[in-house]
Amino acid sequence: MEIKVFDSKAALYESVANYYVERINANPNMTLGLATGTTPIALYQNLIEAYKNGKVSFKNVKSFNLDEYIGLPKDHKETYFNFMRAQLFNHIDIDLNNCHVPNGDASMIEASIKAYQDMLDNAKIDIQLLGIGSNGHIGFNEPGTLFDSKTHKVVLKEQTRIDNSRLFNSIDEVPTHAITMGISDIMEAKEVIVIATGKNKADAVFGMIKGQINEELPASVLQNHAKVTVYLDTDAASKL
Ligand code: F6R
Repeated sequence: MEIKVFDSKAALYESVANYYVERINANPNMTLGLATGTTPIALYQNLIEAYKNGKVSFKNVKSFNLDEYIGLPKDHKETYFNFMRAQLFNHIDIDLNNCHVPNGDASMIEASIKAYQDMLDNAKIDIQLLGIGSNGHIGFNEPGTLFDSKTHKVVLKEQTRIDNSRLFNSIDEVPTHAITMGISDIMEAKEVIVIATGKNKADAVFGMIKGQINEELPASVLQNHAKVTVYLDTDAASKL
């Protein structure tokens, strides 16, 4: 694992964005694994700006998102599909037909899981972007998820629902279930980039980098991946 610590979030996000621009320009057909949540927003803003300034094109880029809530109405602003459109896809030249987010329609979850896994099995993710949950989850692979897991349905931990409730009117509105790529799907990406900022991530970051590799801290599995770069601010790095 390569660890990069930045004094400011602005410097952190500029560095990650520059890396993406460089890599996409070198391979304009690349497949990106994307994440939602607060962490990637500033990266997406930097990428939108780079696109608007003519520094990069996403025309031939393909993408796969990590996860999606189950059971939110299709027009709810917090579905990860709508999040991705609002935060990135609507502002760049990516072809929406090439953008894949698991389908969280509660009436057809088994079919969605199979369809997503089939697509992943036929793709090769070049760079998988990850945030990390305060409990060490990656994607929605909560503590205790098997390292050999594939796309599956999960029951969200209470801590995750509490963490994510800031984006909903109340915790009761936060879905109880989600669909997520599995840990082995994430590990199959050629390269992984993890971003973490803030003190509330410091314990999880410590476990990911220095803890025992253990299913109770899903992100610790990344110690077994050949190419991981972790971008941290000083708060997230404070327990290292
Ligand atoms: C999002 C995802 C999650 C988040 C994690 C951190 O697609 O898979 O693992 O990366 O919950 O969320 P934030 O960035 O909101 O702190």
